Amino acid sequence: MASNIHFILNDKEIYASESPGMLVLDYLRRIQRLTGTKEGCKEGDCGACTVLIGETEGDKVVYKPVTSCLMPLGELHRKHLVTVEGLNMEHLSPVQQAIVDEGATQCGFCTPGIVVSLTGYLMKDKTEINKEGVKKTLSGHLCRCTGYHSLKQSASFLKDTVEDKTGIEALVENRMLPDYFLEIPGRLRKIQSSIRGAANTSTGHYIAGGTDLYVQKGELLPESRMCLLNLHPDMKVISKKNGSIHVGALITFEEFANHFEIMNIIPDIQVYMSRIASLQIRNRATVGGNIINASPIGDMTTLLLALEAVLVLRNDSKSRTVPITSFFKGYKQLDKISSEILADIVIPEFPAHTKIHFEKVSKRKYLDIASVNSAMKICCEDGIIREFGLSMGGVAPVPLFLRATSHYFIGKQICREVVKGAFSIIQQEICPISDIRGSEDYKRLLARQLIIAHFAKLFPERVAVKDFYET
Ligand SMILES: Cc1cc2nc3c(=O)[nH]c(=O)nc-3n(C[C@H](O)[C@H](O)[C@H](O)COP(=O)(O)OP(=O)(O)OC[C@H]3O[C@@H](n4cnc5c(N)ncnc54)[C@H](O)[C@@H]3O)c2cc1C
Ligand code: FES
Ligand code: FES
Repeated sequence: MASNIHFILNDKEIYASESPGMLVLDYLRRIQRLTGTKEGCKEGDCGACTVLIGETEGDKVVYKPVTSCLMPLGELHRKHLVTVEGLNMEHLSPVQQAIVDEGATQCGFCTPGIVVSLTGYLMKDKTEINKEGVKKTLSGHLCRCTGYHSLKQSASFLKDTVEDKTGIEALVENRMLPDYFLEIPGRLRKIQSSIRGAANTSTGHYIAGGTDLYVQKGELLPESRMCLLNLHPDMKVISKKNGSIHVGALITFEEFANHFEIMNIIPDIQVYMSRIASLQIRNRATVGGNIINASPIGDMTTLLLALEAVLVLRNDSKSRTVPITSFFKGYKQLDKISSEILADIVIPEFPAHTKIHFEKVSKRKYLDIASVNSAMKICCEDGIIREFGLSMGGVAPVPLFLRATSHYFIGKQICREVVKGAFSIIQQEICPISDIRGSEDYKRLLARQLIIAHFAKLFPERVAVKDFYET
């Protein structure tokens, strides 16, 4: 069925009638012949296809870098899509100039995506250009030719040229970004919210961020009927009700990590996020998609298992709740019928001094999936553990809530002997297999080490890693 997807591509108004499931990358290269956006891995790994997506927030448009190789065209409705061509002016932009001056074009193929990401970084209001910000911005750009040295050099050069002139208005005023960006908020407001055609159907594949589906079924989706869940903004909200935090299933990893309610209960969430995918993927991957995907090593799922979250499943107007701890029935088997949508994830209220910690071991430190991951939630009173939740991924066909181990800790004091006492219980609860991410023995060892790591990190005065290596 033909659709009518109305959006702005760089400075041009577009009415697209292609399939809403077509990849934005294919649309750009094949239909629009904008070949500056490169096709590398087509699996979200390399960053060569990075574009900026601008969405209205209040009276502003906020831009985020995403991988166009995993994003459906239908989602562009009422959005601003910016490619590397849309950043060109008569002279070089500061990012382009810095890359030229530092010889950071390297293989050349990756350069357009890098220019787009770094420009997106400068477009954020009041961005302070620093090493950490640049590192995060470049996290989704994999270089296999020379390394990142000259890129880092160009970023520090950028700091000197741009100084405090970040944000769209300041960049335009200083001729660092094309003028047309100033008109985009008004132009987007004039686009009708309704979208006709296949993108609006409620049957077919449910697609949220598409970061898993397009990797698995990228060839089939452009021809399939689909329901683009992201066109339902009611599932994109985080709120607090009666002490519990309600996380809409369409909240992306980045939105989750940057929300004050989440930072309140998990102060180190940004640190954990730096180990999960890349900025471009985190701007698309949803918390709900991570749960429904049911990967035994899903990072958000492991975190939410330890928090003993409750899932709200919706089928038309009916809804029911299921504890996440009993949602996974077997490998990729869920307590869910196919027509049900995961609408909300409810994180129950904890006592004020509850501590939460997450650990992930992977072959590569960044941009890699876990060999084993784990999360722990603990609340103590007068030195006694009153509440405890422990989860682990990569040690069973499903992401596991370690019920027996969690139960063991309740009522005990935190000390080396108590932690040691959990080792045999956990080994009985897990059943890892040998695979590409490690042997069974290695994963069993990691399970033990991660429990130590949780306690050593949260209670260094009571438990030290070295205590476990003494004879
Ligand atoms: C390069 C790359 C790196 C990655 N790194 C990590 C990582 O470090 N850690 C990690 O955990 N994952 C990682 N992933 C996996 C992926 O990003 C996550 O699983 C993500 O959370 C999936 O969410 P999504 O919104 O993109 O889901 P989609 O791909 O849209 O959907 C996944 C499945 O869930 C269903 N679905 C989605 N939302 C709903 C809903 N609300 N109700 C009902 N069904 C729904 C879809 O029909 C589909 O079957 C990575 C992926 C890529 C491409
Ligand atoms: S082509 Fe590699 S991330 Fe899209
Ligand atoms: S810059 Fe392209 S592989 Fe290194």
